[in-house]
Amino acid sequence: MSTAVLTRPAAPAPGAAPLLPVVGAGLAVPLATGGTAPYAQLDTAASTPALAAVADRVAEALPLYASVHRGAGYLSQVSTALYESARDRIAAFVGARDDDVCVVTRNTTDALGLLAGCVPDGGGVLVLDAEHHADLLPWQRRGDATVLATPPTVAATLTALADVLGRRRYALLAVTGASNVTGEALPLADVVALAHAAGTRVVVDGAQLVPHRRFSLADSGADWVAFSGHKLYAPYGAGALVGRRDWLDAGPAYLAGGGAVAEVTVEETRWVAAPHRHEGGSPNVLGAVALAAACEALDALPAGALEAHERALRARLADGLQALPGVRVLRIWPDSGEPTGVVGFTVTDADPGLVAAFLSAEHGIGLRDGRFCAHPLLERLRVPGGALRASVGVGTTGADVDRLLAGLAAYLSDGPSVAYAVVDGRWQPADDPRPLAGLAGADPAALARGAGCGGPAR
Ligand SMILES: Cc1ncc(COP(=O)(O)O)c(C=O)c1O
Repeated sequence: MSTAVLTRPAAPAPGAAPLLPVVGAGLAVPLATGGTAPYAQLDTAASTPALAAVADRVAEALPLYASVHRGAGYLSQVSTALYESARDRIAAFVGARDDDVCVVTRNTTDALGLLAGCVPDGGGVLVLDAEHHADLLPWQRRGDATVLATPPTVAATLTALADVLGRRRYALLAVTGASNVTGEALPLADVVALAHAAGTRVVVDGAQLVPHRRFSLADSGADWVAFSGHKLYAPYGAGALVGRRDWLDAGPAYLAGGGAVAEVTVEETRWVAAPHRHEGGSPNVLGAVALAAACEALDALPAGALEAHERALRARLADGLQALPGVRVLRIWPDSGEPTGVVGFTVTDADPGLVAAFLSAEHGIGLRDGRFCAHPLLERLRVPGGALRASVGVGTTGADVDRLLAGLAAYLSDGPSVAYAVVDGRWQPADDPRPLAGLAGADPAALARGAGCGGPAR
């Protein structure tokens, strides 16, 4: 009698396969050299594709969509329940404490702008110059911010923070959870301890942190966290500010309008408490549902799986880049802990915009060039003219990373195969044969008008 031996198929090594399915994986994009290539999305730090589970949840919710908080109709009740349940799910994802509040915003910029309006007058805000503009400009604009030059090591940065916090009382310290240029961060527990010892609260810019690492307000002790759905596999226009209630209840309503008020007379308005106080107008129900679905999907991953996936890909990326001649991987501090899957780098004597255009047009690779909405940090890193940035996520594989490394090696050895020119401030093939989509609603002429976070200044 023969005995059947059952063996469990070996789990793929971290980073070998996508960790979760994303919409659009493997989509073929046209090349300027002819033909197509599967799109290698290595710009997840800017925006991620939607998780398939998120798109499915939105499709399920769409037929149920109706006004929230207002209607007596059955679907209004369902939509209100969907929206408020999403709020709870989002809050739980970042380890909100029982008395924390979760305001659904448009994105991180919106969330930090909201909080900036609620910092008590005369408080003062402390921030490092290594921040993304979203975590710098709202404080700078208040007029009571101290922008601290980032010292060259983590140890020296903690000492400098302790020193400045000890000299006067700040209401708030705003700190990145992970840099959008290098993936690095200060040890958050130490930063929170320093700030709290000085009577200062802490807001974490979680845009680059919460999609990549487990984060908990309760465990870290941070007072607020801000993040964006479009960087968390839920690109449906919602983000969140989660944290302490008191300032948010006392501060001015962020969006003055319907839904934020208890009573209005011609003379005055009585506002409701947070979160609705700051959500005037019709809220983004589907955006909140999408963000909650993404939180649920990431929460359902086995402990450590996300970190192992991104660690493997980052190592492959950073090691591969460093092995190429003339490539320098950017770091803020030599003594920082393990960065997230974001790698900023420069190529000697190469214009970052040209390299990015080449990788897109000839290899079907999407990555970022420019100054990453972090101009002071790029000055500090001695690349005021800009750099390149590759970033990974749950849909990225080692094959995507290898294609970037091979494309860059080809650029360094042979240079571009077609001619490039700067058009409207951006490098592109001089006679670009690629159709810009052929999709309903995508007008190629509109591209030049979409400078957004910077155009030439990006
Ligand atoms: C660290 C960091 N903070 C804030 C933001 C702003 O995020 P959003 O554009 O979604 O408001 C970004 C965007 O890239 C970021 O990387």
